[in-house]
Amino acid sequence: MRAGPVELPGRVLLSPLCGVTDSPFRRIARRHGAAMVFCEMTSSDGLVRRNPKTFELLEYRPEERPIGAQLCGSDPQVMADAAKVCEDLGFDTLDLNYGCPVRKVIARDAGAAMLTDLDRLERVTSAVVNAVTIPVTAKIRIGWDQNSTNAPDVARTLERSGVKWVAVHARARSEKFAGHAHWEVIAEVKRSTALPVIGNGDVKEPEDAVRMVRETGCDGVMVGRGSFGNPWLFRRAQRLLDGEDPGPLPSPRERIETAIAHLHDLAARKGDYAAILMRKHVAWYVRGLYDNSTLCREVNHSETPAETEALLLRYLEKLESEPQPVDQGVAESGESERNGRGADAHGPSPAS
Ligand SMILES: Cc1cc2nc3c(=O)[nH]c(=O)nc-3n(C[C@H](O)[C@H](O)[C@H](O)COP(=O)(O)O)c2cc1C
Repeated sequence: MRAGPVELPGRVLLSPLCGVTDSPFRRIARRHGAAMVFCEMTSSDGLVRRNPKTFELLEYRPEERPIGAQLCGSDPQVMADAAKVCEDLGFDTLDLNYGCPVRKVIARDAGAAMLTDLDRLERVTSAVVNAVTIPVTAKIRIGWDQNSTNAPDVARTLERSGVKWVAVHARARSEKFAGHAHWEVIAEVKRSTALPVIGNGDVKEPEDAVRMVRETGCDGVMVGRGSFGNPWLFRRAQRLLDGEDPGPLPSPRERIETAIAHLHDLAARKGDYAAILMRKHVAWYVRGLYDNSTLCREVNHSETPAETEALLLRYLEKLESEPQPVDQGVAESGESERNGRGADAHGPSPAS
């Protein structure tokens, strides 16, 4: 997989995810085999107005490379100016968000609204491509709603405008994040354009990545929610795509030690606020583990990283010293049940 001159070390990428894919999360994803990572969606207006909060979203460390920034907006000049800012910040690639369904983004004709006006989409994309030398990519949905699926047309427009690949979240804007992704549209996009196509939507297990590539012919796979509390998915999926054994699922110890390392990284950046930010991640890391509800309740009251760490260590000790009955009724699938990775009620639902 490559985006122009940027060669990726694999085919399983981390999606941009607002409120989740900050620098500590991205570093964990890269350490666990994500071929590439993206910053959270960033407003082009915020960047050109030099809003410090917007710039914070674009802080990254060298070990995260290859890393892309992702911009949203609908004005060609503002997007071109914001793209230059991203290039100056040293990003390897720049992604254009043409899929965000959030009302306040749509109200500014940006995100998924761009799918309804291909003239504008072409003008914005071309303006960005002409403004920077780094590769420009795009992330789209299959259409505005299920009656107006136009991803193949969108992909051809993007190809004409000079993007290096298109990532397709296989849902319409109207579906937000619900229901099953329509992978057949990823296959249609692949047939309609010479661009590399990255499939996205519902990759939760290594087997899903293999099935997505087989069923759609996509060149790469982008993982969003499946990576929450489960960075191991990246390497396991890549191995399975390479025809190798995916390797074992992480032990409870590995999961909790990774949560603690994550907490330390967050605390170095955010101080005590890391305890609050870490709450959702802890719920994700211990999903399906025995008596995780008690831990989650305690962590949700913790105000400092030290307290959260102590709770995690005490929970690990309890897991390792007591016999662990299977948490009945929480397993998602046979494999999840056998490996203690079933879903339960503690993982927060997507923010947007
Ligand atoms: C909490 C959350 C935040 C998201 N933020 C972004 C974003 O900033 N940019 C973007 O292109 N997509 C965003 N998405 C969409 C995901 O990148 C991805 O396309 C979608 O979740 C489908 O993939 P999945 O089924 O693997 O999660 C977000 C999704 C969620 C759940």
